[in-house]
Amino acid sequence: MPEVLFAELVGKQQLKKDLFKFSIKAPNIVKNSKPGNFIEIRVSEQTEPFLRRPISIYNLDRVNGVLEFIFQVKGKGTEILSKKEIGDLIDVVGPLGYGTFKYEDYQNIAVIGGGIGIFPLYELAKCAKNDNENVNTYIGFRNQDLVVLEEEFKQVSNNLILTTDDGSYGKKGFAINFLEEDINNGKIDSIFACGPLPMLKAVQKLAENKNIPCQISLEEKMACGLGVCLGCAVKTASSSKENPEYLHVCKAGPVFNSKDVEI
Ligand SMILES: Cc1cc2nc3c(=O)[nH]c(=O)nc-3n(C[C@H](O)[C@H](O)[C@H](O)COP(=O)(O)OP(=O)(O)OC[C@H]3O[C@@H](n4cnc5c(N)ncnc54)[C@H](O)[C@@H]3O)c2cc1C
Ligand code: FES
Repeated sequence: MPEVLFAELVGKQQLKKDLFKFSIKAPNIVKNSKPGNFIEIRVSEQTEPFLRRPISIYNLDRVNGVLEFIFQVKGKGTEILSKKEIGDLIDVVGPLGYGTFKYEDYQNIAVIGGGIGIFPLYELAKCAKNDNENVNTYIGFRNQDLVVLEEEFKQVSNNLILTTDDGSYGKKGFAINFLEEDINNGKIDSIFACGPLPMLKAVQKLAENKNIPCQISLEEKMACGLGVCLGCAVKTASSSKENPEYLHVCKAGPVFNSKDVEI
């Protein structure tokens, strides 16, 4: 059951001009969270912005009951959030989402993400590595200026491949090309992905072609986050034009078996 909490901001770090890492004290949410869950944040007590903003869980510190998330300033909500200071209380609900990453049946997992989509993959990679999985991580960015969390992902991966589209840092090209190479060499038995839609579509197709189980985390726009507003519908892969069927990303997801959804 998700908890509504005014959680104390105990850590704040500016990672880039528009990118912030927040640490909040939320022992019950931490205790009940799994890799892939997210939280929703009400950034202001004013009527505007009224709706909570969904943000992925980046890291769970289970010893100290501290939850970390990383967000990019996009519009009014995240701008207000970025102004919070240590000691302030943050209005959060969580953990949200029934669809979480399930890696336990595999041994050689591929964790692939792009841009700000890499954040929910950290807790996944960390848990999987702690459980002695062989974790192969592929993270891609447009260019060097956008590279973030390289050291953090190195710590929780057996192999890390970092790419930039323009080759200004790491390997040149798309992360998925390096994943495909490792699949062809028999190194991968499952894929876990989060990132921009074009990347997710490509990963979905690759998994289908290579017949490899794949789980993808979707970041649809959300309003309620609780399955009541229908704001985050995604079409099921089995639905037809005549009989479209939808799932709520906030409730059934955000993580789905890639064979189950049409993206
Ligand atoms: C499950 C989930 C997890 C997320 N995790 C993270 C995270 O870990 N870190 C992070 O930085 N962001 C994350 N997001 C995106 C984040 O919720 C939005 O960036 C945020 O709500 C924007 O709020 P705002 O008030 O600042 O911007 P708004 O003023 O509401 O919008 C600013 C711009 O961002 C666009 N936008 C809003 N929501 C989304 C969305 N979901 N996807 C793409 N574009 C959007 C709007 O169309 C508009 O162009 C996540 C979204 C979902 C659904
Ligand atoms: S955000 Fe309201 S149903 Fe998903």
